[in-house]
Amino acid sequence: MSQRHLLKSSTFRLALVYMGLFGSSVLFLLGFIYWSTAAYMAHQADETIQAEIAGLAERYRSDGLTGLSSVLAQRSTSRVGGNALYLLTDEFGTPLVGNLDRWPPVTPEPNGWLNFSLEHAGPRDEIHPARAQPFVLEGGYRLLVGLDMQGLQQTERRIITALIWGLAITLLLALAGGTLMSRSMVRRIETINQTSSRIMHGDLSRRIPTEDSDDDFDRLAANLNRMLDRIQALMEDVRRVSDNIAHDLKTPLTRLRNSLELLGASQEDPEERQQLVEGALREADGLLATFNALLRIARIESGARREGFRPVDLAGLVRDVFELYQPLAEEKGQRLALDVRVNAQIQGDRSLLSQALANLLDNAVKYTPAGGEIGLGLRSEDQAPVIVVSDSGPGIPEPERGKVFTRFYRLETSRSTPGNGLGLSLVAAVAELHRVHIAFDDNRPGLVVRLLFSPNINNL
Ligand SMILES: Nc1ncnc2c1ncn2[C@@H]1O[C@H](COP(=O)(O)OP(=O)(O)OP(=O)(O)O)[C@@H](O)[C@H]1O
Ligand SMILES: [Mg+2]
Repeated sequence: MSQRHLLKSSTFRLALVYMGLFGSSVLFLLGFIYWSTAAYMAHQADETIQAEIAGLAERYRSDGLTGLSSVLAQRSTSRVGGNALYLLTDEFGTPLVGNLDRWPPVTPEPNGWLNFSLEHAGPRDEIHPARAQPFVLEGGYRLLVGLDMQGLQQTERRIITALIWGLAITLLLALAGGTLMSRSMVRRIETINQTSSRIMHGDLSRRIPTEDSDDDFDRLAANLNRMLDRIQALMEDVRRVSDNIAHDLKTPLTRLRNSLELLGASQEDPEERQQLVEGALREADGLLATFNALLRIARIESGARREGFRPVDLAGLVRDVFELYQPLAEEKGQRLALDVRVNAQIQGDRSLLSQALANLLDNAVKYTPAGGEIGLGLRSEDQAPVIVVSDSGPGIPEPERGKVFTRFYRLETSRSTPGNGLGLSLVAAVAELHRVHIAFDDNRPGLVVRLLFSPNINNL
């Protein structure tokens, strides 16, 4: 799988969009944490300073200047907390006591607070930010209490660094996750692509491999494979039909050709010529009939005739076909029995249904020997109408039952009887059009064909 494929894949792009969204929300969240922590720390510092001032003012009130000075002197030297700043000046601003050497030369904020820089006389001459609040004591003394904010600022910086790292790691993880996820998706889509391109190049037996995970890709692959199976079966059908057409039409065409050849060669005898012409016409008619049957089946299979469906009285239809076939059965010395037990109406195409039924009876009469029994009936099973055609002939062996619906398919034993092997193909097409299920059973001896209509389209 190439990098280009990965970068262009929709999953990767989606992963990038998610990374963006995720990154922004993490940024927002971390920003909020930073903002509230920093605000809290600043607030804490201010409160500490204010509490300190209140305490010192109290001390001044109770112990006077000497008391305050001694506390300040003590605190300035011991540097409790390490970062407290004190300065007490007289009314002219002259420093009296404290750890600041002078009053900071800055303009106070509107709320009175002073923000200033503190020069530390240390080994590195650092400059620290500081914040302090002035307070005027009785007697004009001015007190300044503040905090060296360096520690606080460092903590804030550390928080910012931690947040940046957190964001970077989040984005990195999202990118890695997105890439991994898209890789697996792209790989599976690529498999489908490769299989379909092989199929397009003519290898219709190829199938998309599945991973036994039953996820949506596996289901898609399974559906595509089923579709390919169906297409392959249909293509094989088409190939077999064209093979069969070529094969089955060769004999009559050869006979036609021979007749015409003989006709060309014979000169005198008009009776012989007449016979040859009649023979040729018979062959041509047979060929036309076969083509018509094929075209008819194809038209029925296209399903277009479903729009012309009308209510059909099945009992009437069965009786009509019975009347049509009774003389034929009698002629062959067979007994044809009618058994109509219900009245049923369905939506359908009457002429197609009677053609299909006629084909079934035609088979029964054709394949049942003289003296045999043929039955035609209409009854109801599970609230649905069923047409039954039974005979006492040779029957169709179980393994052949699925094949007899294919065009031109005939049992070996029937090759001597006339026929094209198209009769049951038409029955199957008509049944499919009417959503009728065809069931073959053994009549011991003989064949029973049942046409099972669906229960919801009938009126029993
Ligand atoms: N009632 C039956 N008893 C025994 N075999 C049957 C019966 N019906 C059909 N078959 C077998 O199924 C094959 C296919 O039947 P189908 O009706 O499609 O073709 P056909 O009867 O041979 O020719 P056509 O109907 O086109 O004249 C037949 O050739 C025959 O071998
Ligand atoms: Mg037939």
